[in-house]
Amino acid sequence: MTTVSDVRLYEVGPRDGLQNEQKLVPTEVKVTLIEKLAAAGLTKIEATSFVSPKWVPQMADSAQVMTDLLRQDGVDYPVLTPNLKGFEGASAVGATEVAIFAAASESFSQKNINCSIEESLERFQPIMAKAAEQEIAVRGYVSCVVGCPYEGRVDPGVVADVSAKMMAMGCYEVSLGDTIGVGTPKDIRDMLTVVMDQVLADKLALHCHDTYGQALANILAGLDMGIGVIDSSVAGLGGCPYAVGASGNVATEDVLYMLNGMGIQTGVDLDQIIEAAWYISDFLGHAPNSKVAVALRKT
Ligand code: HMG
Ligand code: MG
Repeated sequence: MTTVSDVRLYEVGPRDGLQNEQKLVPTEVKVTLIEKLAAAGLTKIEATSFVSPKWVPQMADSAQVMTDLLRQDGVDYPVLTPNLKGFEGASAVGATEVAIFAAASESFSQKNINCSIEESLERFQPIMAKAAEQEIAVRGYVSCVVGCPYEGRVDPGVVADVSAKMMAMGCYEVSLGDTIGVGTPKDIRDMLTVVMDQVLADKLALHCHDTYGQALANILAGLDMGIGVIDSSVAGLGGCPYAVGASGNVATEDVLYMLNGMGIQTGVDLDQIIEAAWYISDFLGHAPNSKVAVALRKT
């Protein structure tokens, strides 16, 4: 049985969700979406990423998104920064939190950020130094914690090693990404058991893509092991452009419905999340990838 009584939902829709959408989303739609998510009570909303626009064209307006956004007290708007150039872009527009992203698979690291795992950790060092100077919080991601689209199954020992290195570098928490959603609850338990030998549960988050429909079950397995931070994406938007077949993250509203039913506190309002899910889905021209948003649509 889960011992967790409170969960912090970390919203990734505006970044992980939209980065994989083919249709170019105008800055004002992104900003409105983020503001709706903040109004719903989310306190961590990953707003955009400062990556190469050649690699991810949808994120090319990152500086404009951060500039236009009406930021609320008590809400953090982290952004992805793969290197110092990205960090400097984020810091120039007043980002107060960034996220660095590594992988537990060499092939995925090469495809996603064009360097080895070790090189990526070296690239992050100057980000960590500047972030400490400027009091900018840094979150770490480890991708492919269960499986890799190029290498198949991933050794939990590598996940633990990369996670521990990111914590030692100064990340405040590490989010463990099942990037292609292949894990089942047993895989998640086995992986967490190994990782938790090196990083405490209260420094870990779970980031589950729902490609195989396992995300809610995997999150429940994580809650049972004391994980209290869950990444999710409004309307189940998302994927990763460098992981073919990676469908969206688990939908925020589906996780929230489950947590509400279990009496676990989040401070987030389900009706407002559903409203935000339909706002962005209507813009994109497809229904939310969420059972709950479809079941509870208000006409
Ligand atoms: P590279 O080509 O090796 O970089 O890409 P480079 O340093 O050789 O520079 C090449 C060009 O890119 C130069 O421009 C640089 O200025 C520019 P040029 O001289 O050719 O005009 N450049 C940049 N431009 C803007 N912002 C930057 C930046 N850096 C260099 N930060 C790089 C390396 C990391 C930049 C590239 O591979 C990249 O942008 N990758 C991002 C990939 C990405 O965003 N993937 C999705 C996010 S990760 C994810 O979704 C997984 C996650 O959700 C967890 C999970 O699910 O597991 C987090
Ligand atoms: Mg992801």
